[in-house]
Amino acid sequence: MKKTVFIYTFGCQMNVHDTEKMFGILKKGDYCKTDNPKKADLIIFNTCSIRQKAEQKFYSELGRIKSYKKNRPDLKIAVAGCIAQQEGKRIFKKAPYVDFVFGPQNIYKLRDFISSSNGPVAVSDNPDLALIDLPVQRETGVKAWVTIMYGCNNFCSYCVVPYTRGSEKSRPSEHIYAEVSEIAEKGYKEITLLGQNVNSYQSDVNFPGLLKKLNRVGGIERIRFVTSHPKDLSLDLADAIAELPKVCEHIHLPLQSGSDNVLKLMNRVYSYDIYRNKVVLLREKVPGITITSDIIAGFPGETEEDHIRTIEAMKEMEFDGIFAFKFSSRPRTAAARIEGHLPENIKSERLAEILSLQDEITLRKNLLFENTRQEILIEGISDTDKGRLAGRTRTNKIVTIPEKDIIKGSIIKVEIKKARKHSLEGMPLK
Ligand code: SAH
Ligand code: SF4
Ligand code: F3S
Repeated sequence: MKKTVFIYTFGCQMNVHDTEKMFGILKKGDYCKTDNPKKADLIIFNTCSIRQKAEQKFYSELGRIKSYKKNRPDLKIAVAGCIAQQEGKRIFKKAPYVDFVFGPQNIYKLRDFISSSNGPVAVSDNPDLALIDLPVQRETGVKAWVTIMYGCNNFCSYCVVPYTRGSEKSRPSEHIYAEVSEIAEKGYKEITLLGQNVNSYQSDVNFPGLLKKLNRVGGIERIRFVTSHPKDLSLDLADAIAELPKVCEHIHLPLQSGSDNVLKLMNRVYSYDIYRNKVVLLREKVPGITITSDIIAGFPGETEEDHIRTIEAMKEMEFDGIFAFKFSSRPRTAAARIEGHLPENIKSERLAEILSLQDEITLRKNLLFENTRQEILIEGISDTDKGRLAGRTRTNKIVTIPEKDIIKGSIIKVEIKKARKHSLEGMPLK
């Protein structure tokens, strides 16, 4: 009989996709997925270290499953992902019942770790990472993640990613093209290209060149990508979004702060002016483009005036949506060592102000969609209303419709009847 594996996934799309790769590798071995960790023969924690909260969540889950092993000594427990990379063998000190530890660059050896009995710790750099094509077991049949590059070279002063994911490595464009073609043959309609900073993708082609190449894959209707670093968002990329029919009119462009002083401390290498000019250019070249962003509240040394700059920037930029976080001090990062860490209550107040302002802006932006016609890709039953189907516009807005008998993966035209904060309500056009 096949053995079973359960994977806890924390963190970003990169990790969600790494979990799909782990399932892909294990399927080729003798494991299949289970939804019940209590019944699993192997439990993997695919962890995230981006903020302290993510780390705490992992350790509390890890603590909870300790007792499983008492009843089932054969159970294997593994820790993967960004905390695995950061902590290495220190994980065993905190949780001696863990069997093995492996970082994001060593996923390809997963089956070897399982068969090895001496509790391996695999956190070494893998220079060939971008050349290894791993099997992927994907979740739905409509949208697929595709890695285009690994790692990050930017060293934003608050961020652990360059330490946990290593240096940037771009996959050859031919490998990506082949994977996307295979995905298209399986019937997927949309791909999202993944990288911490997709704009610095570089193999035989650059990022706009890659988009041009992938735009030719038949069967794929929509191409998205995350994340773009503002510092190297180029004119060519704006042109590619404008001209390539499959590339969707949405960009996630993290601003982080509206204050030049803070941006400098963050090592973001752009000023607010530079950021604003890029947004103006994008909106000029790609009419109707939606822009989402990330903001950090309460970076060390952030004054009330700096915070107001962020608020002003948000009012001026009018993002379609943001992810906002309180600054969290992370091991090894430069920001952990700079002066002027702010008390929790100030960070919370600033975050609350940022979120409530954005709520107003998001609703206002969504209202502009009322009575317009949009094309949506049906993804399945709505998460929030089981009586409706949900899909997304090219601009990445969620639209729900009352119909239930339209098949997943269809692209249909709808009229938007009502705008809400988190979604739009539409009616299919006959
Ligand atoms: N590579 C992407 C995303 C990185 S992580 C990029 O450059 O945008 C996603 C977001 O988490 C970041 O944009 C940032 O807003 C936030 N983040 C990262 N480290 C953080 C920290 N130490 N404290 C709070 N937020 C953080
Ligand atoms: Fe982190 Fe900056 Fe790299 Fe994004 S670009 S992953 S925020 S170091
Ligand atoms: Fe992603 Fe978290 Fe690692 S956001 S890159 S899983 S630290």
